[in-house]
Amino acid sequence: MALMEHPFGIDFGGTGIKGAPVDLATGTFAGPKAKIDTPRPANPETVSAVFRQLVSGFPSSTAAVGVTVPGVVKHGVVWSAANIDSSWIGTDADEVFTEALQREVHVVNDADAAGLAEVEYGAAKGRRGLVIVTTLGTGIGSALVHDGVLVPNSELGHLEIAGKVAERHAANSVREREELSWADWAQRLTTYYRTLERLFSPELIVVGGGVSKSAEHFLPLIEIETEIVPAALRNKAGIIGAALVASRAGRQ
Ligand code: BGC
Repeated sequence: MALMEHPFGIDFGGTGIKGAPVDLATGTFAGPKAKIDTPRPANPETVSAVFRQLVSGFPSSTAAVGVTVPGVVKHGVVWSAANIDSSWIGTDADEVFTEALQREVHVVNDADAAGLAEVEYGAAKGRRGLVIVTTLGTGIGSALVHDGVLVPNSELGHLEIAGKVAERHAANSVREREELSWADWAQRLTTYYRTLERLFSPELIVVGGGVSKSAEHFLPLIEIETEIVPAALRNKAGIIGAALVASRAGRQ
């Protein structure tokens, strides 16, 4: 497949916006990754400008673009913005970005993108039954994938456990802010993952987010029955999953 035919994935995060063309046959980048700092404020206008700059590095491509958003996304419209600019709420991001880039753009929740990528190419490749992919970062993102099919916008980071919203108690940002030891953090994660286990009886739990590269420090300390493994695609999962979503949407 020529480079121009590869869909482009964009990972829109709180600190950086990263993008690359993705070879969906292998689940790898088909060209160099570009990264630009997230603008302040990060509203639809400023972010569109950054996206234009990102894709302009690949001028010949007309293939669809997939974009991750750290919030609920329904039919291209952003419905929640726990950790991003509130101006996104109610925005038809598919429309705004398609107009800005003059290319077909599809947005998807960031954890859903990572989940799809892990199931298709990563730590949960070939697994049947229910796989729950969680991302531990500023918040906690989640993806529910059953036999390869995504149930979007599960938002399990917002589960309330013992009167506390899970992501405000157990996200990686909380570990950093409260300077928790790995053991103390793992205790909080044990409570969290036991709740997921009780509610969903998954076959496999995948733990992603930047901190998954330090999985050996905390994953063995999480005491649950379900198999739990670190994500395999690390910080590439969002870009790869976004490109996958764009390509699938284009085929519908
Ligand atoms: C948002 C989710 C997102 C997660 C990870 C949460 O605060 O509600 O939509 O997937 O953070 O970024």
